[in-house]
Amino acid sequence: MSDRPLRLRRSQLAVPGSSEKMMTKAAGSAADHVFCDLEDAVAPNAKPAARHQIIDALNNLDWGKKTRCVRVNDTSTEWCYEDIITVIEGAGENLDTIMVPKVMNGADVLFADKLISQLEQKLKLKKRIGLEVLIEEVEALQNVVEISTATPRLEAMIFGMGDYSASMGVDIREIGGANSVYPGDIWHYARFQITVAARSAGIDAVDGPYANFKDEEGFRVECKRANTLGMVGKWAIHPAQIEPALDVFSPREKDVTWARDMAAAYAKAEAEGLGSVNHKGVMVDAASMRIFNNIIKKADLIGM
Ligand code: COA
Ligand code: MG
Repeated sequence: MSDRPLRLRRSQLAVPGSSEKMMTKAAGSAADHVFCDLEDAVAPNAKPAARHQIIDALNNLDWGKKTRCVRVNDTSTEWCYEDIITVIEGAGENLDTIMVPKVMNGADVLFADKLISQLEQKLKLKKRIGLEVLIEEVEALQNVVEISTATPRLEAMIFGMGDYSASMGVDIREIGGANSVYPGDIWHYARFQITVAARSAGIDAVDGPYANFKDEEGFRVECKRANTLGMVGKWAIHPAQIEPALDVFSPREKDVTWARDMAAAYAKAEAEGLGSVNHKGVMVDAASMRIFNNIIKKADLIGM
């Protein structure tokens, strides 16, 4: 598990693979991760051409340090295998991960895993292509532990609340928005389940879309909820949602300073044979150090 690459996923920007204009904009954006979509953002008759538009974009645009991902169609469709083969054969060296939507169980993940393994061998790719999956069917939520541990290639699970709402029969009118009738957060159970399984498997949990891209305040609330639970980032369906997600999913400067300060105090105490120490009126012990180390690890990855 430890050989999984560490990647930032604070903001994952969705971009239709049929739009050269939007892919160009996405490549130049501040998002940590961009996924060029072949699934819902592309009409069925535009999918074959979109595969080649994505290949051109991956091979010819400057993506900076971004994680370059392609979302393929799900394994129950006629398109999935050809999406994976065409995109990896065309742009395997310029692609970091494949995202598979609507997985139901571990077997769906293994289908993509085996296919990618064969392509990596045939094309003699120098690096491993990672996998990300969407948990967006009620059956997937039931099988989330099996999915999370299906292959060491898996790097992230994303909560797709749009399809999940449809699958579950949730009565909402807008993807990702709150439901004022329900006394609590309607996404809590799914986010919680996914995050526990992801953390246990050593992979990232990411929160899905928020359709009302003009409502920054509502978007930030959802980011904060996901961040508090242990998710590492949230989708952006529009460039306006990138900066708020980068902001919420980054630790505050003062928290990083505090965590490093605590780590130094704890290291000094340990050297003196102490297991817990009073640092500026707060008890620091091994458990608090694990929490501070999470902040330090995140800050290091961001370069803070
Ligand atoms: N990625 C990159 N650029 C995007 C973008 C995206 N997801 N969404 C919008 N833009 C660009 C637009 O092309 C426009 O560029 P311009 O100023 O150079 O003309 C600019 O950002 C402002 O866009 P705006 O006019 O506010 O929105 P729009 O009406 O063009 O697009 C959507 C609205 C919802 C159709 C568009 O944001 C979109 O397609 N989002 C992604 C949908 C998707 O991938 N869904 C599947 C996953 S949930
Ligand atoms: Mg979906």
